[in-house]
Amino acid sequence: MADLGEALNVNPDLLFLGGGNPAQIPEFEQLMASELAAIAADEEQLHRLLGVYQSPRGSETLISELCSYFQHLGWPVSEKNICLSSGSQSAFFMLFNLLAGPSECKQLGKILLPMLPEYLGYAGQGLGNNMFVGCAPKLSRVGEHEFKYHCDFDAVEQALRSEHICALCVSRPTNPSGNVHSLETMHRLGQLADSNAVPLIVDGAYGSPFPGIVYDEQALAWQSNRVFVLSLSKLGLPGARTGIVVADEQLISKLSSVNTVLSLANGNLGPALFESLLKKRQLDRLCAETIQPFYAKKREYMLSLIKANWVGLPYRVHRAQGAFFLWLWFENLPISSAQLYERLKARSVLVMDGSHFFFANASTSLHTEQCIRLSYCADDEVLARAITIIGDELKALYSA
Ligand SMILES: Cc1ncc(COP(=O)(O)O)c(C=O)c1O
Repeated sequence: MADLGEALNVNPDLLFLGGGNPAQIPEFEQLMASELAAIAADEEQLHRLLGVYQSPRGSETLISELCSYFQHLGWPVSEKNICLSSGSQSAFFMLFNLLAGPSECKQLGKILLPMLPEYLGYAGQGLGNNMFVGCAPKLSRVGEHEFKYHCDFDAVEQALRSEHICALCVSRPTNPSGNVHSLETMHRLGQLADSNAVPLIVDGAYGSPFPGIVYDEQALAWQSNRVFVLSLSKLGLPGARTGIVVADEQLISKLSSVNTVLSLANGNLGPALFESLLKKRQLDRLCAETIQPFYAKKREYMLSLIKANWVGLPYRVHRAQGAFFLWLWFENLPISSAQLYERLKARSVLVMDGSHFFFANASTSLHTEQCIRLSYCADDEVLARAITIIGDELKALYSA
């Protein structure tokens, strides 16, 4: 990941398909600009934004708005089920270490990732060593150029039996694969979590109810013993660093205490902007009419570029059900994905080497060295040039 940032600084002309930054969506930024101007023009609101610490659980007024919003969706929540954090990344750090760290479990426990590949940002979050246990997926080929992962429940049950598991965690949609676990899969994972008396953490950074970057949606409702971690980042506010956790009261209370120790208070910018979207009832329309269609169009464009440029190549795209990445598998790739990454970097195309996302399961032999992740957030012209170059490299490799 450091390599990605460094490469971009050294060569700003890179065709950057590597990171997790959301796209710049002008309608969204204009809406935020007018909101900021309104806050700046109002003395009291400006003071609330710049001159006041939030309370330990996060902005009380936003939590109250969120509570009504979630209740309207049918979620059985009160304000005591919600807290805020400085980005969801830090919420995961607190959650994982609270649940699997030495204070909560008699021995250091593990977080079970039921289906790899999973979000790389979890790796390294454990204060103890080897906090994560990951299960390799089952895989089905779909047509000539698609594939899909499925949760291997035998492997999940085996891990639950043999390791000291303190929580299960899935991202939905999944970064990197764009998979969206079906309601049936979520139900089975929930049952396994309940029967093992551990929570199921659902990372909804890209999902419902917001930002809703999902193409075949099956929305989940929060319930007890589930931890939903949401974020404002992929809505277009990664700079405002705001995460939202919905969980049982006891856990929320512990999280708030840890958050106070770590950060004292969260920033006010994200809560101020988001509260206004909720109060004005703009959020759902924004997600459904601006954010989701923007990414749906980019996805279609990227898929059409690949189809047109990579004729004859043995590529497969994971069924892109959500988030803003394409996850590509090159069967019998003559070199490793890490080497492919280097070759593409030398041609000024930055992608994400897929092998990193298989962390937490050193023993899996599944195509770990044959995948890359491409973000489709960049301008269309950048995407078109990058796809042509990647196609050229692959053609040279497969025909050598
Ligand atoms: C799946 C997933 N979860 C969580 C995060 C963390 O996001 P943030 O800390 O900006 O809320 C990311 C960021 O890329 C992500 O992809």
